[in-house]
Amino acid sequence: MSKPLNVGVIGVGGIAKMHFPGWKESPHAQVTALADLAPEMLRRTGAAQGIDRLYENPQDLINDPDIDIVDICTPNAYHMPLAVAALEAGKHVICEKPLAPTPDDVRTMIAARDKSGKKLMTAQHFRFQGTSQALKAELDRGVLGEVYHARSWMLRRNWTPVRPTFIYKKNSGGGPCIDIGVHILDLTLWMMGHPKPVSVSGVTQERLSHQESAFSRANNIAIPPDMDVEEFAAAFVRFENGATLNLEVSWLLHHKVPENKTEDMQMWLYGDKGGAHWPSSELLSTHNPTRQIFDAKLQNIPNLGEAHARECIEFARCVAEDLPSPVPAEESLDVTLILDGLYRSAQSGREVRLDG
Ligand SMILES: NC(=O)c1ccc[n+]([C@@H]2O[C@H](COP(=O)([O-])OP(=O)(O)OC[C@H]3O[C@@H](n4cnc5c(N)ncnc54)[C@H](O)[C@@H]3O)[C@@H](O)[C@H]2O)c1
Repeated sequence: MSKPLNVGVIGVGGIAKMHFPGWKESPHAQVTALADLAPEMLRRTGAAQGIDRLYENPQDLINDPDIDIVDICTPNAYHMPLAVAALEAGKHVICEKPLAPTPDDVRTMIAARDKSGKKLMTAQHFRFQGTSQALKAELDRGVLGEVYHARSWMLRRNWTPVRPTFIYKKNSGGGPCIDIGVHILDLTLWMMGHPKPVSVSGVTQERLSHQESAFSRANNIAIPPDMDVEEFAAAFVRFENGATLNLEVSWLLHHKVPENKTEDMQMWLYGDKGGAHWPSSELLSTHNPTRQIFDAKLQNIPNLGEAHARECIEFARCVAEDLPSPVPAEESLDVTLILDGLYRSAQSGREVRLDG
């Protein structure tokens, strides 16, 4: 086998820790350098991971001629500039979700990718769960027929990530839409076969996070009054093929979540031959001549291991074997277009068109 690809991770906070096991497990790649603006964090992570090539300036990592893959795990606002710099330096890029908070930034990244001829992938780890892969395979076989409606939600009860990375718009670009909405929306569009979104009607709310003593159960912490992103959003999306989607996301809602979970994350897909539910992998259908209804559950869900690790393994494989990006940036552009439309619709109080 050819020599392993060298990976440099930029931003070594919470999510980077979920990527390291994947790079370790990959037969194609190894992490050899880290960058972070916070020197103490950088030093500690370097020591924990046994990596001594440490850069306080991410551009120095990008310029390092030994690096083949740049793994961007910084707050959202830095995804685009760092990815473009890395692509221009001839590196392949895997970038945490959202690929970028605005459609224009995503388009800039796509242009840089095309100019460089390198790979670009969005780290949408939910696609790499065994349940997701098994259900997607069934949908691709056409078991639901044509999917004409989906309902998706990712709702947390008092679980706001009270960190500057998430709660200030200048860092994140938005609240739960941008943080967790991208997960359930990406998964839903992927399952639906990426129909082209044409319009969205949306609302955002900030009802609970600015109440006196508002708190998050994540770290049992008060929500600072200067949090400037939404806490809840809902949207109705229309697609070119006539399909529709109901979406709801929240960090802070009086909503029952399953015991021992921080959130209720689900998706229903309705087609003209059957329905499907994620994550239960249930499939529903009918047999009209005998007037019977059928409920089935997918069996033989593959064990793909931890999904963040799997996404890194799959990206390294796509670079090593020159395969298409496992999560193409064009698909993330549609996610970002819908969320941007949701925000614009919430502001104007009207449905907004996305097709021109
Ligand atoms: N896929 C998932 O499940 C998941 C979960 C959490 C976060 N994320 C995403 O990961 C990204 C980071 O989130 P996090 O929870 O790790 O945040 P974090 O705040 O824990 O860590 C971010 C790190 O980036 C560093 N940093 C900030 N700006 C930088 C820059 N310009 N250059 C280099 N380093 C910089 C910070 O010092 C910090 O160490 C976000 O885009 C977030 O949306 C994804």
